[in-house]
Amino acid sequence: MATNKVGRIRQVMGAVVDVHAAARLGMFEKLQQLVSSDPNLVHARGGDGQTPLHFASTVEIAAYLLSEALGWGLVPATAPRAGPYGEGSLQLFVPADFRQHYFTLLEQAEHREALQRICLFDLVVNNADRKSGHCLYVPDDRIYAIDNGLTFHAESKLRTVIWDFGEEPIAAALLDDVRRVLDNGLPPALADLLDPDEQRALKRRARGLLRSGRFPVDQSGLRYPWPLI
Ligand SMILES: Nc1ncnc2c1ncn2[C@@H]1O[C@H](COP(=O)(O)OP(=O)(O)OP(=O)(O)O)[C@@H](O)[C@H]1O
Ligand SMILES: [Mg+2]
Repeated sequence: MATNKVGRIRQVMGAVVDVHAAARLGMFEKLQQLVSSDPNLVHARGGDGQTPLHFASTVEIAAYLLSEALGWGLVPATAPRAGPYGEGSLQLFVPADFRQHYFTLLEQAEHREALQRICLFDLVVNNADRKSGHCLYVPDDRIYAIDNGLTFHAESKLRTVIWDFGEEPIAAALLDDVRRVLDNGLPPALADLLDPDEQRALKRRARGLLRSGRFPVDQSGLRYPWPLI
C-alpha cells in the first residue's frame, strides 16, 4: 500500500510510469492503456528481469503452493481469480486474533516452533517483506503467514523481522520437509509460476539451508522491512 502512495506521488511529480511500474503499483487503468497501445509490452522484461504480469498475483499463489508442498500449511489457501481489473489472486480470509503478531507471539514459548517454521519459509522463498503483522494467530489452530507477494526473486532480497533464532539449529523435521521437496522436484503447478532463474535460486537457497542446518544471523543489521509491524 505504501508503495502505491510513493508511486502516485512520483507520478504527480512527472515521473514516467512504464508498464512494470504500473503493474507493481496496481495502476490497472494505466497498465491497460499501455498494453492496449502495444500488446508486446506484456512480455517486456523490467530492470529486475521480470515481466509485468509477474507482479500481479503469481508469487502469492506460488507461496501458497510451496507451503503446501512442504506440508506446513502456513499460507491461507490462495487461488487465481479474475476480478474487475483482470487476473489476480484470491486468498482465504482467516479469522485471526488481530491483536497478536510476531513480536507478541515470540513472548509466548509455545509458539516458538511455529515461528521458526515461518522463519525457515521466508529464508527459502527469499521474502523481502516479512513484517510482524503478517503472522496471523488463529487460536487453537496455527500461525498463518500472509502477504507473501515479495518473494521468490532470484537475487537475495531477504528483509524480515524474524531474526531471533540466529545460530540456532533448524529442527530436523523441518529440514526433512525441505529435502523432500528438493528430492521430489517442485510441484508442476509451482514450477509453472516461477521463471527458471527463480527456480534455480529457490533450490540453491534450500540446499544452503540444508547444508548449514542453522538459522542465519543478519550480519548487516539492515535486513528489516519498514514498517516493522
Ligand atoms: N488471508 C487473510 N486473512 C485475514 N486477514 C488478512 C488476510 N490477508 C490480509 N489480511 C489483513 O489485511 C491486512 C493487509 O494485508 P496485506 O498485509 O496483505 O496488505 P498490504 O497492502 O501488503 O499491507 P502491508 O504490507 O502494509 O501489511 C493484514 O495486515 C491483515 O490484517
Ligand atoms: Mg505488503
